[in-house]
Amino acid sequence: MSLLKIARMGHPVLDAVAPSPDPALLEDATFQRLIDDMIETMYDEPGVGLAAPQVHVPLRLLVMDPGEYLPGGPYVVIDPVLTFPREERFSLWEGCLSVPGLRGETERYRHAHLAFRDRHGEARELSLEGFAAAVAQHEYDHLDGVLFVRRVPDLTRLAYEEEFLRHHAEPPADEDDGEEAGED
Ligand code: NI
Repeated sequence: MSLLKIARMGHPVLDAVAPSPDPALLEDATFQRLIDDMIETMYDEPGVGLAAPQVHVPLRLLVMDPGEYLPGGPYVVIDPVLTFPREERFSLWEGCLSVPGLRGETERYRHAHLAFRDRHGEARELSLEGFAAAVAQHEYDHLDGVLFVRRVPDLTRLAYEEEFLRHHAEPPADEDDGEEAGED
């Protein structure tokens, strides 16, 4: 396995809508190795999610591991369909490996339903809530060429990480996962 180079904001691969991978690709050893490398790269950074366009591969593929917020990771998510069963939203501070050094306060749906294929082509579904739901929305956005900075409604809530930690980070809350900030 090897670590992959991450595309940064401004690279066109991050702005494009990625196509679905051909199902035959799942049988391809190179594709499976890409998945392993994406997982290794995500953990190495460290991050809680990584989408294929972020490693210069324009395909609808992402890996995610929101840790305690979604046990059982890492999840390999191919050709996902993301839907929102409720209107409720919440705000959280996000970061992104493709936008190093910045944090921004976004609004995301609190509940999400993720239908996808795993690396073996099996149909899977996940019901997500809070931070895990936000990670899925952030990663899914990458497949559509959208970076989180475009989800920051109030640009006074876009900050360098040091200033975020100094002026905007709130003490850890026991129950409200809306206070988390994750790099993905
Ligand atoms: Ni990201």
